[in-house]
Amino acid sequence: METKERRWRVPSIFWLPLIIFAALLFVMDVFQTQYTIVPARIQIGEEFGSELKGFLIKTPGCRIPFMDPFDPSITKFIHKEKQPVCNDGIPPLFDSNMTSIFLLNSSVANYTDQDVSAIQCCYQPFYRQEPKGNDGDSSIKFEKRCISFNISAKISHEFIKVMCKVNKVSIYTDFFSFVPIKTLKKNTVERRLNVLVVGIDAVSRLNFHRQMPTTVDYLLRNMSAVELLGYNKVGDNTFPNLIPVLTGLSEKTLEYVCWNDDNKKRFDACPFIWKNFKAKGFVTSFGEDSSWMGIFNYMRKGFWKQPTDYMWGAFNRISENQIGNSHNMNVEECVGAREVYKVFLDYITNFVKTMAQEQLPYFAFYWGASLTHDYLNKPNLGDPNYYNFFKNLHENGHLNSTVLIVMSDHGIRWGDIRQTFQGQMEERLPFVFMVLPDWYKRQYQEAYSNLVKNTRRLTTPYDLHETLKDLLNPFALTHDFLQSRYRNVSRGYSLFNEISPKRTCESAQIASHWCTCQQSIEIERNNSLVVEAANYAVDYMNFQLEGYAQCSNLTLESINDARIMTHEEHITNGNEVKDYMIIIETVPGNGVFEVTLRSTVGGQRANHFEVMGTISRLNLYGKQSACITDFHLKLYCYCKNLLGD
Ligand SMILES: *[C@@H]1O[C@H](CO)[C@@H](O)[C@H](O)[C@H]1NC(C)=O
Ligand SMILES: *[C@@H]1O[C@H](CO)[C@@H](O)[C@H](O)[C@H]1NC(C)=O
Ligand SMILES: *[C@@H]1O[C@H](CO)[C@@H](O)[C@H](O)[C@H]1NC(C)=O
Ligand SMILES: *[C@@H]1O[C@H](CO)[C@@H](O)[C@H](O)[C@H]1NC(C)=O
Ligand SMILES: *[C@@H]1O[C@H](CO)[C@@H](O)[C@H](O)[C@H]1NC(C)=O
Ligand SMILES: *[C@@H]1O[C@H](CO)[C@@H](O)[C@H](O)[C@H]1NC(C)=O
Ligand SMILES: *[C@@H]1O[C@H](CO)[C@@H](O)[C@H](O)[C@H]1NC(C)=O
Ligand SMILES: *[C@@H]1O[C@H](CO)[C@@H](O)[C@H](O)[C@H]1NC(C)=O
Ligand SMILES: *[C@@H]1O[C@H](CO)[C@@H](O)[C@H](O)[C@H]1NC(C)=O
Repeated sequence: METKERRWRVPSIFWLPLIIFAALLFVMDVFQTQYTIVPARIQIGEEFGSELKGFLIKTPGCRIPFMDPFDPSITKFIHKEKQPVCNDGIPPLFDSNMTSIFLLNSSVANYTDQDVSAIQCCYQPFYRQEPKGNDGDSSIKFEKRCISFNISAKISHEFIKVMCKVNKVSIYTDFFSFVPIKTLKKNTVERRLNVLVVGIDAVSRLNFHRQMPTTVDYLLRNMSAVELLGYNKVGDNTFPNLIPVLTGLSEKTLEYVCWNDDNKKRFDACPFIWKNFKAKGFVTSFGEDSSWMGIFNYMRKGFWKQPTDYMWGAFNRISENQIGNSHNMNVEECVGAREVYKVFLDYITNFVKTMAQEQLPYFAFYWGASLTHDYLNKPNLGDPNYYNFFKNLHENGHLNSTVLIVMSDHGIRWGDIRQTFQGQMEERLPFVFMVLPDWYKRQYQEAYSNLVKNTRRLTTPYDLHETLKDLLNPFALTHDFLQSRYRNVSRGYSLFNEISPKRTCESAQIASHWCTCQQSIEIERNNSLVVEAANYAVDYMNFQLEGYAQCSNLTLESINDARIMTHEEHITNGNEVKDYMIIIETVPGNGVFEVTLRSTVGGQRANHFEVMGTISRLNLYGKQSACITDFHLKLYCYCKNLLGD
């Protein structure tokens, strides 16, 4: 019965789900049945013997409790989202395969009552262009010619726009992307491992299990993926969690090193790992959907020169601008008649197949946000498609020289679930799965067994960067080599070496605010130190907003939650250090914030508070902060021009 429920598909008639839902509520209410879905292989915490019972991570440096994806505190937030309807249900007139576009006869009647021969179509190639002056990185150049064709056409361009007319009246516009070979250099002598990163935005490890059980099961069971259980985020949103993966630097250091006014705030000079792969002869590819809010584009200026050989974001942006539809919160769910994330997965498949066919080594980093960015429960809609995507690549042997990393950056950052303890933990614990080819695991057993050990250690985005660096030379990871390095400890640590069980958030440079290792105890919200800390936090936000006259001064409205974190080793210089995590609400705007404050008890700095890491915003700011562009301060600012209403 439970599996039936999960596989049940939404019928197109809109009232049927409502009736079923109402009936379900009635049954649950009258018969007091519990509605929980527990997929078969979720009890990871229980598989490792009794000593680990109750913990995901249990080392001297870090303990992360086992949490049930279907914990009663969470199930009330779990429900089915409805499938988006693209283009009001009108099917596309054209489809594509890896080389061609072709007309779908079955759709003709949806566009014209005339014969196929009355439809006149042409396609127009286009390219990303380097931005000018102070412009954002969104410049596109269309070729002047629009190439006429009948019924189908073989395409040698990367990106095309298709336009069709009947009697000179436009009836159809669509966009298609392809993977033309861009390099003549083939280096088939040296052995390589390709790297394919498939990112899914804003999905905690537990939400991945909850929402995409079929995909998770396939990755773990059929692809023998390794799952990092203690992967702890290091910053608030996507950018500060992916910059460490891609560059090994923190967001702050990046600004200092390469992303500053000297570089006109473009990212060209930054040390992205794809540059190292490129230098070794790999083909490089970077792609995102919802690219208007892309990693390097949201409130940022992207690149001058295209950073990788292939970059899909330019294609995504123009297609969303021109034929995007089914707008929902932050994203266009569809381009024309297709869901954006499916178009993206098809593109990735074409890229991987093309590289495999041509035997070109590649490094590809793909980040999908359109499906998952805004809603806790939307990933579930993509489960069958992600499952088919991985299954297709795996079963056709396209990944047998490839290291596949499937990952997220953080869990959902706002909404009701964030105000529960588990939701707060989940937000800090995104998923990371790694799949290595079997032959590689056999040949480099020590590297692989270290990776497996590290699934139960505290790990970070900085480690992922070191791991990617190792994949530049994967055939060097022999016993002798692994033994010879890491006598000392740095922030980032390759997952192919065993990470010390003594590692703490502090030694891994995870700010206390994001640290999931420490246990916490709920304390009275009216405790005088808590109240003092809350007032300090409000002053701190107001201080940050100083110089932004358009933003209101905030005042403390309420303290909604208070916890004290227990550290093992936090007596420094005889002074006791205490970390408080509090949730407060401020007015105007009713912003809800989660703040970690460190207080030093005793000594000269008695009752001194310090804000640890960033302050999290737990509810949406929406248009409240439209009057400023600083992406950090947007979380706090409530625009004065809204006060008059
Ligand atoms: C598309 O055309 C088919 C065949 O004529 C028709 O059954 C279907 O209702 C049409 N769909 C829409 C959304 O108009
Ligand atoms: C792609 O579509 C074109 C046009 O329909 C067809 O000629 C070609 O055989 C197809 N290629 C593949 C690989 O299916
Ligand atoms: C679609 O229609 C064209 C022209 O009428 C015809 O040549 C072609 O075979 C048809 N294709 C299919 C799949 O029916
Ligand atoms: C398309 O078909 C029309 C009429 O059959 C023909 O005149 C025209 O040359 C064809 N165009 C191409 C590009 O094949
Ligand atoms: C996945 O693996 C399981 C267990 O080995 C097997 O029963 C199942 O058929 C596999 N599924 C697919 C889709 O290959
Ligand atoms: C990859 O897998 C395919 C299909 O299983 C197989 O035919 C091919 O020989 C494999 N290639 C390598 C390099 O192992
Ligand atoms: C680790 O040791 C190497 C060699 O002694 C040194 O160059 C490096 O700076 C050390 N790293 C850290 C983080 O101490
Ligand atoms: C704090 O609140 C509790 C009840 O919520 C009350 O019993 C207690 O006296 C309060 N303490 C202070 C110091 O106000
Ligand atoms: C803003 O609020 C702070 C308290 O957080 C207060 O000390 C300060 O005087 C206020 N500033 C203005 C301009 O109202």
